[in-house]
Amino acid sequence: MQDLRIGIIGVGVMGADHAERVVRRISGARLVAVSDPDLPRANALAESLSRPAGIAEQTGAANGSGAIRVIGDPLDLIADAQVDAVIIASPGFAHAEQLMACLEHAKPVLCEKPLTMDTESSLRVVEAEHKLGKQLIQVGFMRRFDPEYAALKELLDSGELGRTLLLHNVHRNKTVPDTFRSEMIVRDSLVHEVDVARWLFDDEIAKITVHAPKPTGLVANGALDPQFAILEMASGAIADVEVFVNFQVGYEVRCEAVAEKGSATIGLGVDVLTKRAGQWGGVVPEDYRARFGTAYDIEVQRWVDATRRGEIDGPSAWDGYAAAAVCTAGIQSLQEGRPVEVEMARKSEVLG
Ligand code: NAI
Repeated sequence: MQDLRIGIIGVGVMGADHAERVVRRISGARLVAVSDPDLPRANALAESLSRPAGIAEQTGAANGSGAIRVIGDPLDLIADAQVDAVIIASPGFAHAEQLMACLEHAKPVLCEKPLTMDTESSLRVVEAEHKLGKQLIQVGFMRRFDPEYAALKELLDSGELGRTLLLHNVHRNKTVPDTFRSEMIVRDSLVHEVDVARWLFDDEIAKITVHAPKPTGLVANGALDPQFAILEMASGAIADVEVFVNFQVGYEVRCEAVAEKGSATIGLGVDVLTKRAGQWGGVVPEDYRARFGTAYDIEVQRWVDATRRGEIDGPSAWDGYAAAAVCTAGIQSLQEGRPVEVEMARKSEVLG
């Protein structure tokens, strides 16, 4: 079978990370094109990754050899006959149009979260894909591919601990840019735990309350940070989430599941503990690329393998839509200071 020829749209932090991943670590795929309005950035990335780097490529073991084209307009990249599948890593506001173009050209796509910026446009994407009669969209909720989260899911699904009753989640970043406002904490950060709760409970979220405790004094833009969300599942189970994006220390993501006969915690970061100079401890990852590098590798490899079989293997457009609906309600809860019911279409009515 031929290598999957991948085009990446948006080569900022996440897109560049995926580009390097496809070139250096993913088998069965080749990066053939990138697109970004920041042309110098796209050119520099394409040039650096087109150059043979290291022994693997000299022996032909890696898939990175061959020139990577820079295509100015993302819609042209999607339409390009030499591009078999697309990774969208542009900012969220650009996703809806680019996803629709992927569907129009029947191109499989791994779209970074959020699927789109609001519930309505997410639903339009779900409906357009459904009309094609084939799942082409996978959403980049990479926690599902993290070995620790996957082990937790397996444990909970095994029933060994009885029914799962509660989830306690912590999601902290070292810092974020000044442009990261209160709503973005919901739509761009909390959205990951929204997906985790839906996935681990295998249930929809019926109601969300986002509390804004007294904010840290270390952000100048007035963002409500940290936030504390309570997600009420349709079945009655509850998940809570602390999101704190200017934690200063490093990147930290934890999840504790409390079940009838026990609890299970992941994300303790107890990798290597060292003792020196009268102290003991370990390393706190700088950011998500360090913490979830393996998850991204597994996510993209499984997406490539599934795409070559004509399938998806991960969170679907529906999962992206459901998360968008919960985040829309979450932003309303934050603004109005009250619990908000999640409004979303019935799955059976949309997908039959
Ligand atoms: P970024 O700002 O570093 O990069 C975005 C890039 O897209 C920039 O190079 C920009 O020039 C380009 N761009 C702007 N408008 C565009 C358009 N209309 N079409 C194509 N490219 C365009 O942002 P970052 O952090 O890389 O985020 C990109 C996406 O990845 C977002 O959807 C974000 O939510 C998601 N993300 C996902 C993470 C995860 O853990 N799964 C972590 C970080 C980001």
